[in-house]
Amino acid sequence: MIIRNYTKKDEQGWLRCRILSFLNTAYFDNVLQQKETYENAAIELVAEIDGQIVGLIDVEYEATPKTVCTQQDSIGGMIWHIAVHPDYQRQGIGEALLKAVLQQAKELHIEYFEAWTRDDPWVQMWYEKYEFEKSTSYYHVYLEGNEMKNLMNASVDQFYPVTAFAHYTGKDLEQFQHVKRKHECVCYVKVFNQ
Ligand SMILES: CC(C)(COP(=O)(O)OP(=O)(O)OC[C@H]1O[C@@H](n2cnc3c(N)ncnc32)[C@H](O)[C@@H]1OP(=O)(O)O)[C@@H](O)C(=O)NCCC(=O)NCCS
Repeated sequence: MIIRNYTKKDEQGWLRCRILSFLNTAYFDNVLQQKETYENAAIELVAEIDGQIVGLIDVEYEATPKTVCTQQDSIGGMIWHIAVHPDYQRQGIGEALLKAVLQQAKELHIEYFEAWTRDDPWVQMWYEKYEFEKSTSYYHVYLEGNEMKNLMNASVDQFYPVTAFAHYTGKDLEQFQHVKRKHECVCYVKVFNQ
């Protein structure tokens, strides 16, 4: 297995690896057709086995605190994407990607990583194994058909929303009891020991 910088010719392999790795997670329908690019500088690494992209990590980092990340007053790197192909999971590839990105991050004087993930316990276990700490959370709420009643009212005549996706930052979860799909979105932070 080789860990190396992402190049443009990796795009299809990157997209496929990401989609397959997300299939069994709360992000199953978060599909990209083009790889994300970033306003700020980023460390973009892939893991390759026999010419196939089997893992990836993207960290966009800031020059000024709190312009990309949100949780500390020091320079942060946001992990926007981390994924390992399902046929290669739990073999240390995620750990190897994290170690490689951490090494580059320290050389760039980044002081912490921030990452947001939904409520898949096994994914959270990965973050916690590698000493990320829960910092804060809010909710991702998906509404379908009747679930919209009393929660969403369109103000346009003859306009009938049938699905909605919303962020909820409050504490009154009772009002979403009838909603099937909702996820706690958790922020993890890993502060580096230099
Ligand atoms: C999270 C992810 C990147 C980890 O990569 P990985 O190469 O599989 O993980 P590693 O081999 O480095 O680490 C394994 C550890 O992660 C946790 N873990 C990973 N998969 C697990 C599973 N299916 N069940 C339980 N724990 C699991 C455990 O702590 C495990 O340690 P253990 O085997 O000693 O119990 C990978 O599983 C993945 O792609 N998940 C789906 C994509 C995703 O959710 N990304 C984050 C969205 S923000």
